[in-house]
Amino acid sequence: MQPTLADLQACARQAGEFLCQGYGLQHTFEHKGRIDLVTEYDKRSEEILLGMIRSRFPGHSILSEETGSHPGDEDHRWYIDPLDGTTNFAHGLPIFAVSIAYADRQGVRLGVVYDPTRDEMFSAERGFGAWLNGKPLHVSPASDLLQSLLTTGFAYDDWVIDTNLKLFDRLQRLTQGVRRLGSAALDLCYVAAGRVDGYWEVSVQPWDLAAGGLIATEAGALVTNLQGGVDYLTPPCNILAANPVLHDVLFQTIHAEGALPGLQNHHDLRKGKK
Ligand code: IPD
Ligand code: CA
Ligand code: CA
Repeated sequence: MQPTLADLQACARQAGEFLCQGYGLQHTFEHKGRIDLVTEYDKRSEEILLGMIRSRFPGHSILSEETGSHPGDEDHRWYIDPLDGTTNFAHGLPIFAVSIAYADRQGVRLGVVYDPTRDEMFSAERGFGAWLNGKPLHVSPASDLLQSLLTTGFAYDDWVIDTNLKLFDRLQRLTQGVRRLGSAALDLCYVAAGRVDGYWEVSVQPWDLAAGGLIATEAGALVTNLQGGVDYLTPPCNILAANPVLHDVLFQTIHAEGALPGLQNHHDLRKGKK
């Protein structure tokens, strides 16, 4: 049985309401890496989501951030980030969300990103459009860099930070600015809503991108990996999202000679080669 958008929204709302109970409290956290945090709320939000999905859709496969791969029917596949923006959440900064996507054989079919502090429910269904609290979403018409406000993010590895700082430096000087919001899922939804004009990131994870990528696409964005290919969900994931005209400008700028040696081969970058 396939879920509906309402099923995903119900899951996201329940987990989001739970996160709100913990928002603003003092949190103990563990370190998954030197910088990468996880709180009790990441784990319990994930338990809520796994429980709801398993009870309604037993046998579906699930990829979730905190507990990894839950094998099942690969024709029914879920991607879950129970708290995207953990660092913000842990510091009391209200930029975080719950991200849930459902994929069938053709790829991601349903996506929901819920920001509980603003009560903003971003949703999309493949081929039918994208919405914010029920209202249709459309990307901005910005066609050049000087008109554009961008977002990016930084994964937690040093080589990614070094690599992305080069892009940040270049694009900050050519645009109206680059923001670093701290939630990849919301970055993509803000492209969909025209609040920002473009988003890129090096080395993200499928659960960060699956729902937001569909929402941005359905709002009219071109969403690719940084090499320009359509697959941005197979690790190592990287991503570029903007309206098609601006996407081309950003792609050319990112790949301009000397901008980022080695980005043509992301696997080289992962090994730290320049
Ligand atoms: C992170 C956020 C951040 C992005 C990182 C992600 P988390 O997710 O989306 O914006 O830059 O790449 O890992 O750890 O808060 O779920
Ligand atoms: Ca995340
Ligand atoms: Ca997370």
